[in-house]
Amino acid sequence: MWKRHEKFERHSLVLLIGIIVVVSIGGLVEISPLFYLESTIEKVQGVRPYTPLEQAGRDIYVREGCYVCHSQMIRPLRDEVERYGHYSLAAESMYDHPFQWGSKRTGPDLARVGGKYSDNWHHDHLTDPRSVVPESNMPPYKFLAEKDLDYRAIEQRLSTLKAVGVPYTKDQIANATADLEQQVDPYAGETSGVKKRYGAKVNQRDFDGDPSKLSEMDALIAYLQVLGTMVDFRTYKAEDPENLR
Ligand code: HEC
Repeated sequence: MWKRHEKFERHSLVLLIGIIVVVSIGGLVEISPLFYLESTIEKVQGVRPYTPLEQAGRDIYVREGCYVCHSQMIRPLRDEVERYGHYSLAAESMYDHPFQWGSKRTGPDLARVGGKYSDNWHHDHLTDPRSVVPESNMPPYKFLAEKDLDYRAIEQRLSTLKAVGVPYTKDQIANATADLEQQVDPYAGETSGVKKRYGAKVNQRDFDGDPSKLSEMDALIAYLQVLGTMVDFRTYKAEDPENLR
């Protein structure tokens, strides 16, 4: 065995060919299953595309670069799960374009921030973070409450997402403007179109505390409040690894 090894060490070309053979075996083992697996993402009940308002809020999140300080990906490590909740599932970001997993946590992970605070808290926090968390170094985003949300292109926005694989229906695209406006209307009721099209769990209310204005903050808070809340973890059961073998 050691004698034959000498051949590899003395002739760099033989060593090179040896390396290529060994690395290709590793590569094939990792890559070839992907060709016959239909999907590497397990479908999970509850995960749905964002409503037009949530999507508009998400676009503001990306525009403002919130991802520079916040990740949206809870790793399956004990300290993270105890702090933030159930670890993130692949399915939870399957409709995210671009995904916001992030790699930097100046502030906390936001993957499950939905429902953790009231809309009012978010309004105060975004307006002046230090008014609610005195030691915070997050910048203020007061202007979001003063700026009207520009949603003239929301139908096109949803069609574009559909083109890259988000399963928006024709009905959802055609009614995007109406659904967006209805989601901030607290009087639209349980039978509203947005609930019919996106599910009864959709948060439907005025988010920024000013019903007379459909502001960018309305959209951003609607987005923050849905993060991590689509899957019901009281009933969710991870695929048993025994069954996968
Ligand atoms: C310069 C870094 C920085 C940027 C940029 C930033 N944040 Fe933060 N954020 C923080 C820090 C630090 C905290 C923790 C202290 C606090 O709660 O204010 C925080 C906290 C939060 C929290 C509360 C999380 C929790 O679980 O308590 C939310 C929600 C939040 N940020 C949203 C946003 C949004 C939305 C944006 C973009 C508009 C944003 N942040 C931009 C640093 C940042």
